[in-house]
Amino acid sequence: MSTLRRPLRVLFVCLGNICRSPTAHGLLRSRLVDAGLTGQVEVESAGTGTWHIGHPPDARAMAAAAARGVDIGDLRARKVKSSDFSDFDYVIAMDHGNLADLQALAASQGTPRARIELMGDFSPEHAGQAVGDPYYGGDNGFERVLDMISACVDGLIRQLQNDLAGEHSRD
Ligand code: 4NP
Repeated sequence: MSTLRRPLRVLFVCLGNICRSPTAHGLLRSRLVDAGLTGQVEVESAGTGTWHIGHPPDARAMAAAAARGVDIGDLRARKVKSSDFSDFDYVIAMDHGNLADLQALAASQGTPRARIELMGDFSPEHAGQAVGDPYYGGDNGFERVLDMISACVDGLIRQLQNDLAGEHSRD
């Protein structure tokens, strides 16, 4: 049995890449440490829009994450690129608009390696739901975003653990 496997790669995508997807990025990165999966899973985030390329996360998103012990201050926004669909195993959209944009982009690339999923579908209680855009709302929106993302990240970790176990059994 080989232990030389490439890491699973996860890309979270929202519109601006300064609120929801960096929050998911930071939460998963932190939970991977807790789950002992550092090095077995790699995480990035990106946006479908261009407005905030190179910017750090929104101050409200950083504060909400920090209140739960997660530092996302090092993250910088980038735009989704076509190679993401071949470089990542999971490309995970925060809402249905992001999902449609990603599916259209991926279709123009031929057959993508990545599974393109809706974030809400990783949590049974949120299946089919969007992680709503908090950008134009109050601080409360960021709390709700964190609650939902947290539940979804739990489900995603279980999925990744299953994937990793499956890869081992095929070695
Ligand atoms: P995000 O939120 O997609 O969760 O990063 C947004 C951030 C910025 C904008 C829209 C949504 N904007 O229009 O600039």
